[in-house]
Amino acid sequence: MFGPLTWGWKNFLPSATLLSMRSTSSVANSSLKLINKVAVVTGSTNGIGFSIARRLAQDGAHVIISSRKQQNVDKAVDTLQREGLSVVGTVCHVGKAEDRERLVATALKHCGGVDFLVCTAGVNPFVGSTLGSSEQVWDKILSVNVKAPALLLSQLLPHMENRGQGSVVLVSSVAAYVPHAKLGAYNVSKTALLGLTKTLAVELAPKNIRVNCLVPGFIKTDFSQVLTEDPDFEEYWKKIFGMQRVGKPEECAGLVSFLCSPDASYITGENIVIAGFSPRL
Ligand SMILES: NC(=O)c1ccc[n+]([C@@H]2O[C@H](COP(=O)([O-])OP(=O)(O)OC[C@H]3O[C@@H](n4cnc5c(N)ncnc54)[C@H](OP(=O)(O)O)[C@@H]3O)[C@@H](O)[C@H]2O)c1
Repeated sequence: MFGPLTWGWKNFLPSATLLSMRSTSSVANSSLKLINKVAVVTGSTNGIGFSIARRLAQDGAHVIISSRKQQNVDKAVDTLQREGLSVVGTVCHVGKAEDRERLVATALKHCGGVDFLVCTAGVNPFVGSTLGSSEQVWDKILSVNVKAPALLLSQLLPHMENRGQGSVVLVSSVAAYVPHAKLGAYNVSKTALLGLTKTLAVELAPKNIRVNCLVPGFIKTDFSQVLTEDPDFEEYWKKIFGMQRVGKPEECAGLVSFLCSPDASYITGENIVIAGFSPRL
């Protein structure tokens, strides 16, 4: 049932060994704020998700990398392992139940549990209006962007509960606050995530699991290229965002590490914008 994992040299060791590798890795340092924690990051082979995975691992966590394409997983794992970071990877299309199961199984096999879930994977298969979106476009956007984080969390929840506490970070977009006319159904899905964050935060607070949301502005990645390279669009966002530039993926990563850390122990249900000036009222 489970497809091939991405193997680095650490994977030839017994699974629980990944945890004990920390003492010999280049990031061995007991003062690291996420030391020996385990993070599952979806959509983490490129862009914002990759930067988040790198930062969580630099801050001491063992990170499970994932995305749809095996070659992307292999490349991301290889890059981060070469940096001395503790990562393994597996293919996971977040819209597929069997892939989500494999992701959970990978985390348990290699790390024995899960402390953090970061849901970065998101799609926008259609540039156009809300009413111009076909039923297939709606289904795909809502399935990957909104349903998948909730379904994956429900699969991981028993394992997070076993740890006694946990942190979940969803990834919305400023398109939730300032909808762009060309991003119809995508805007709606990202607005839904703001509500999902609040609802899950309330539901999971009694279990000591915090749920917050990163709300990026325009960040230079492959995903945003279609917009950030459009001169008309540049005019548009320069009117809205005070810092007059697009952001970098790594400028989103520190917030996620903070939200996972003990420093954020009393923060839940928050949607936090990183956009070079928040357009939020
Ligand atoms: N860039 C921006 O300006 C911006 C602004 C606001 C919000 N966001 C949000 O930030 C998130 C990441 O965007 P990004 O700009 O970093 O994109 P990106 O650079 O294109 O990276 C997307 C990552 O997600 C993976 N992915 C795509 N579809 C997936 C799926 N169905 N299941 C699992 N993994 C999947 C991709 O790898 P594979 O191809 O191998 O699957 C890749 O690793 C998205 O949720 C997006 O909506 C981005």
